[in-house]
Amino acid sequence: MSYLIRSLVLMLVCVLANAAASAEDGSAAWLRYARLNEATRTQYATFPAALVVLDKSPLLGSAQSELLRGVRGMLGLTLRIENAPLSEPAIVVGTESDVRKLDPQFNLGGTLTGDAYALWTTKLNGQPALVITGATDRGVVYGTFALLRKIAMGEDVSALKVVESPSAPIRWVNEWDNLNGTIERGYAGPSIFFDNRAVRSDLTRAAQYARLLASLGINGCDVTNVNADLHILDSDFIPQLARIADVFRPYGVQLGVAVNVSMPKQVGGLDTFDPVDPKVAAWWQQKFDEVYRQIPDFGGIVVKADSEGQLGPSVYGRNPAQAANVIARALKPHGGIVFYRAFVYNHHLDWNDLKADRARAAYDIFHPLDGQFDDNVIIQIKYGPIDFQVREPASPLFGGLTKTNEAIELQVTQEYTGQQRHTVYLPPLWKTVLDFNMGVDGRYTPVKDIINGSSFHRPIGGYTGVVNVGLDTDWLGNHLALANLYGFGRLAWNPNLSSETIADEWTKLTFSSNPDVLQNVTGILMASWPAYEEYTGPLGLQTLTNITGPHYGPAPESQENNGWGQWIRANHDGVGMDRTIATGTGYVGQYSPQVQNIFEPLANTPDDLVLFFHHLPYTYQLHNGKTVIQTIYDKHYEGASKAAEFLKEWKQLRGHVDDERYNDVLAQLQYQAGHVIVWRDAIDDWFQRMSGINDDKGRVGHHPNRVEAEAMQLQGYQTFEPASWEGASGGKGVTCPEGTQSCSAATKFDGKPGWYEIDIQYFDVNSGVSHYKLFVGDQQVEDWSADMVLPGKEASADSSVRRRVRGLALRPGDVIRVDGVPNQGDRAAFDYIEINPMVQ
Ligand code: GCU
Repeated sequence: MSYLIRSLVLMLVCVLANAAASAEDGSAAWLRYARLNEATRTQYATFPAALVVLDKSPLLGSAQSELLRGVRGMLGLTLRIENAPLSEPAIVVGTESDVRKLDPQFNLGGTLTGDAYALWTTKLNGQPALVITGATDRGVVYGTFALLRKIAMGEDVSALKVVESPSAPIRWVNEWDNLNGTIERGYAGPSIFFDNRAVRSDLTRAAQYARLLASLGINGCDVTNVNADLHILDSDFIPQLARIADVFRPYGVQLGVAVNVSMPKQVGGLDTFDPVDPKVAAWWQQKFDEVYRQIPDFGGIVVKADSEGQLGPSVYGRNPAQAANVIARALKPHGGIVFYRAFVYNHHLDWNDLKADRARAAYDIFHPLDGQFDDNVIIQIKYGPIDFQVREPASPLFGGLTKTNEAIELQVTQEYTGQQRHTVYLPPLWKTVLDFNMGVDGRYTPVKDIINGSSFHRPIGGYTGVVNVGLDTDWLGNHLALANLYGFGRLAWNPNLSSETIADEWTKLTFSSNPDVLQNVTGILMASWPAYEEYTGPLGLQTLTNITGPHYGPAPESQENNGWGQWIRANHDGVGMDRTIATGTGYVGQYSPQVQNIFEPLANTPDDLVLFFHHLPYTYQLHNGKTVIQTIYDKHYEGASKAAEFLKEWKQLRGHVDDERYNDVLAQLQYQAGHVIVWRDAIDDWFQRMSGINDDKGRVGHHPNRVEAEAMQLQGYQTFEPASWEGASGGKGVTCPEGTQSCSAATKFDGKPGWYEIDIQYFDVNSGVSHYKLFVGDQQVEDWSADMVLPGKEASADSSVRRRVRGLALRPGDVIRVDGVPNQGDRAAFDYIEINPMVQ
């Protein structure tokens, strides 16, 4: 190759590499290291040019490359890698003991422990130095990310004297990945770890994920589904797991997997898995000896047992402590831990038994065992007593274990909170639990102080977040959803940070510090959970989603009349679960007297949880001065209109945010703005039918500008009722039957002449891609394909989508027609059209 051609090729490679680096596809998340504007950059004019890294460990290698990358990206400067001793001002990176070896005068005024870090401006070897240090290499990596975060936010770093310690030693994430590459409750594509029952040959994304986790101070990751695969610890699989541990290691993330307690029998060749049988103990011991020979820093395991069909110690009449300890003892010599999940309950409860209560299960089962778990067992407790609902009271078990290690389980993947198709920023929800004072022994014992071990002097404990990232470039399938992963990590590090501070930080790092961007994005995030709660399940009703289906759209009826125990006990006269001690299930009695005093007397119970604790007539007047039923109606209208505002606020950011992510978020918020109306109407219609009480404001069931599909003039289309009637407006929609090529539905416009927008509420199911056309008279004004990927196989609230066509000039007598061309199982169904004067 000639010199010229070689140079041109090299230039092209560089250009492509830069383009790839700057593509705003969400893959960089909050670690974009975008170039700071000139004015901000000037404050870093005295930033040291030299970088001295005191050790060659893989972790410090990560710190070094991160610093080079971050400083180059944000400041456009390439640090010079130098060796000690210092001959010019430098950034010095190393453990506290190594820094002291370099200069014995180095003094932080105290000694770092655990994963703590310090960013310390001082003099070393007589030269000015910015020291990034920690008790361990992992702490140094955390300090590195912290420094880069400060620069990314434009903070002054010229005189730092910062020491930070994480609130809790355990800061783990769980991924519910299956070995075949699918992810339980994952909404962002296939697994980054597994494919076809093997660990992926290319683990690039897994390494990038470890980097994201380390940037938040997360130190452990269980990579497999809690509904565990029996073969996860097969001898030929352990070397594959070791490859994941290899890519985690440079970021200080310890590997974990979920196991099934029946493995000794089901795949281990024993005739039992009884936890007290010495053969079983020996089996676990040899298994973990084998694991640690290949993965010396293996973190530990997660156990789901006697829950939702998973086998457990109850098979042998044993209890969770016995099941946890036999595994814990096998891990103990290697420093491993067991996360034993408290999510244990009977999912065949008797609906007719008014005393039956799933919420009681965790406390009933685990509280009597307090003190019986080994020191390296952590009881992993979901934040509420049910299952990741839009609001729940703090699980009473947090206060029910004072001699046992605990971790809170939070859910970053939005299983019950919109599955990343709705923007719902969850830290404010999590903080309602973390900050909740359990009042144990009359003391101030907020959940955050119990789980980190400080309230009851426990050696370990902390945080677990179920994340479920996937291969999608943007990790979670919605750019804004990454604020939840960021928020989880930041809260696990410091639960006293406010949700708003976290949202601001995330927005600055993810988009920009432009005040408009900051105001609107933080505004959307902060308003999103309250809005979601209002348009789904307010007053402590839980999310009211389809709990026997995909847990996505509204289906309140699915809560009732089955063994799952997510009951709301709605009938003609009232709604809510009576969980009081006096007349209900007695669940309230699981809390300390101080907390009982909040939830037992109706007068003291806050409105936002009132129906979780009390069964009330619809006409009961709440603290807000309105009746239960009117509050339900109003909240659904309020929540839906708040969510519609998100779209408007986002639209103001056009040009302030890169087009790529702007358009992605726009599409997501547009979809959400349509789906909130499905939610609003489904829940309000259902309660109206159940209670027989009308909305004071006359909105529920009255939609003046709506034309039901079933009331249009139909050609080919046939009326149908979805399985949950409230999933379609008026309880009905139209569908183009099997064997029909195309169908149409028409109506005559009889309003005033003017500019209008027409919404078509249609059903987009996954069994084909149907096609729709909208006509005004003979003129086709829109066509589109139903090609979204939504949960649910049938036309229902899960698959209901709104298409808005704006700027249509309508005249009285115009015929408006929807043509549908079905495709395979997707029968071009639709629900209604709504014709509204156009809003500018
Ligand atoms: C929820 C979820 C399941 C999951 C379970 C668990 O019920 O829907 O998919 O397995 O929680 O946390 O174990």
